[in-house]
This record gives sequence, C-alpha cells and structure tokens, in this order.
Amino acid sequence: MSLTQKAIDILTKNDRGGYTIPTSGLYPYQWNWDSAFVALGIATYDFTRAWSEITTLIEGQWPDGMIPSIIFRSDDPDYFPGPSRWGNTLGPIPSTGISQPPVLATVVRTLTDNATAQDKARRAEVYDALYASHKWFHEARTVAGIVTTVHPWETGRDNCPEWNIGLDGMTVAPDLAPYTRMDNKHSDPKFRPSQEQYDKFLTIVQFGQSVGWDQRRLTDEGPFLMADPNIHFVLLRADKDLRAMAVDLGKPTDEIDGWIDKGEAATDYLWNDDLGAFTARDVRTGQFSGGFSNCSALCFYADSGTPEQRAKTLENMERIAARVDYMLPSWDPDAADFEPQRYWCGPLWPQMNYMTALGLSEQGENAMAERVRADLCRAIEQSGFWECFNPVTGEGCVSSQFSWTAAVWLSWQHETKLKGVA
Ligand code: GLC
Repeated sequence: MSLTQKAIDILTKNDRGGYTIPTSGLYPYQWNWDSAFVALGIATYDFTRAWSEITTLIEGQWPDGMIPSIIFRSDDPDYFPGPSRWGNTLGPIPSTGISQPPVLATVVRTLTDNATAQDKARRAEVYDALYASHKWFHEARTVAGIVTTVHPWETGRDNCPEWNIGLDGMTVAPDLAPYTRMDNKHSDPKFRPSQEQYDKFLTIVQFGQSVGWDQRRLTDEGPFLMADPNIHFVLLRADKDLRAMAVDLGKPTDEIDGWIDKGEAATDYLWNDDLGAFTARDVRTGQFSGGFSNCSALCFYADSGTPEQRAKTLENMERIAARVDYMLPSWDPDAADFEPQRYWCGPLWPQMNYMTALGLSEQGENAMAERVRADLCRAIEQSGFWECFNPVTGEGCVSSQFSWTAAVWLSWQHETKLKGVA
C-alpha cells in the first residue's frame, strides 16, 4: 500500500464524526492546532469533511473568544487531565481552560484561496469566530505589548526545555489534588515529561480553576508567564492572513493593522542576542531560555525580524543541520538538556517542519526549506506516521498512526502533484 493511502487510512481511522483525534489511546479528544493541520490533509481528498474539522473546532469557542486547546465531547477514563480535572470551564462544550498556537486563520486562508464564490462564503462563515479568537490573544494574553502564555501546554510544546526557567520560578501547590498520570500508560515514560514538570503543569490548572477561569487574572496573577516564539510568530502570521481575508470580505482592517504593528514591534523582544536566535523569555524576569528550538526559525513563516536576525537564524540552522541527520530538532543538539527521544527536548515534529519549510520557501531560502521538508519525508518513509521522530536516527517516538503526520504528508504530496501538472 502506498504511503499516501496509508495516510488517508490513518485519518479515516482517527475520524470521530466531524472531527479527528490525534491518535487513539494517548489523545482521545479533539485538539485545537491538530485539527487545523488535519484539515489541510483531509482537504486533499474530501473538502467538505476537511471543512467540518474547522467548524467543529469553532463549536468549542468560549464566549470571550478563546478556542480551547482540547474539546472534551466525552469523558474518557483513560485520559488525564480530563474534563473533571479542568473543572467548570466557560465554553459551550467541556474543554481545557487554555488555548493553543492559533494556526487556524492561516489554514482557512490556505483552504479558501481560489477566489471562488464558495471560498468567499466559507471565509464569511468563520470570519467572526477567527477574529474573536485573535482579539482574545491580543487582549487576554498580552502584557506590555507582547503576547504571552500561561502554561507550557498552551504553546503546544509541552516539556520543551524553553519552559524550565518559568517552571523553576514556580512551586508545586502544597494542596495539589492527588492524581494518576495516564500518558505513561500509553507510551514509554522515557519519551514523556518528568513527574515534577507534571506537578507544575497541574498546579497551573488548579490556579485557573481557583480564579474561575478568568483569563485576564490567569495571565496577570498565574504562576507561569512566558513569551513563546511559537505563539508569537504563529499569531503574527495568522493576523496577516486574517487581514487578507478581511480585505477580501470588505471588512474593516484598522484593529487588525494595530495587532500586526504590535506584533512586528514585539518580535525584537524575543531576540536572544547571545545565541543569535529567537527564544522564549520569562516575562516577569526578562530572562531568556537557552537554546535554539524548532520555532526559532518561524520568523520566516511570520515574515518578521531584521535581515541580520534572519541571517543569524540561518547560521544556527546550518550548525544544527551538520549535527543531526533529520532536521529540525525541537531542541538544540548542542544544549546540555538535548534528549533526542524525549518529546519536545529533541525530536522533530511534523507540523513544525511544515510551518518552517513553508516560511523558508516563501522567503526564498529554498535550500534549507528543502532540507527541512525532505528530512521529515525521509523519516516517515523510514519509520511511518509517528507523532515525532528522533532527529539522530529517524526512529518514530511516542505514538504511531498520528493524524497531523499523515496530514502534512498528504498536503506536501498534493503540492508536489500540482507543481508537476503546472
Ligand atoms: C501533545 C503536543 C501538542 C499536541 C497534542 C495532541 O500535547 O505537545 O502540541 O497538540 O499532543 O497531539
């Protein structure tokens, strides 16, 4: 069976009726940015079904505009922390109380870019929801002009060493309710976050509950407050895509223009001059994290940063490309805490390679774009559709039969086919 057919089979198997789970076992619900990438893949063979991936995600949007990171349409005893641990969250469907990197507007623009009447109708259908979700990031999560994050899970990069400075600055709640982890039952603990990290992750959840999930209070008073290049660059790109759709639909753009100006000005805040890289930063102390991650090069995707910053970013990529066989590791192989198998401490992640390669090629950095794209394809050909891959060996890590891996593969195959025809 071809890899393309296998990818379609995975997405079909993970379909739960209108939405797709990342993989069975470890992740039995609808995840925010997973669904956005999944829509790109499904659109290559069933546009109507791909669109419902987007509308079902929006069904979980809170009245304040936030689209949560996970939507719990059931209560699976095999998953932790599920709906009861998140408590009385404020959306129409039980959910987490945090968001995830807002790739959705970019995906919607990509999927509706043929200027047909139907494309326009689809954009009009979801525009207000997308707008409200961006406004939420700019209002509920912004501190002194920079978009922040209150939880490593919100960044989509759960245990990346970037978060250690923020986590080191907090203590585990003395009254943390006891719990049993389920993630380690589904995958080898050597791939997963440590116990201390998990206690801190749940301390933040407990704080959110204690303020009734008031998102402004969670940002201002919560135990963790960092700025993340992933959320920053993804939002900046998505603001630009939202603006293009606003123009297409004849909507006002003034507020979005303000968001874009604010975002461009904030890019410099994340520039770690010692490393010559965009890194995360603790917003309360100003301290930078200590390594090049797989969102450091998203400056290209957001079309932001100075020519010098971009040149240094590429130099770092060249250095890393000489150290691993498979770009782009989630953490710097020269950092002391690099672990090629442990989740966000080293493995390469399909959706990050997708965004990084797209940004590089849009900005004319074709050789590095091709390396990032081809390395992921090689890892998939060698090992299958895993959640993430060891960047040294190409072996799959954590979970197999993974939806966004299948989706990125399909999306790239489709593009190659279109180029071949043109
Ligand atoms: C993990 C990843 C996160 C992803 C989720 C579901 O928590 O870190 O980015 O959305 O799994 O795939």
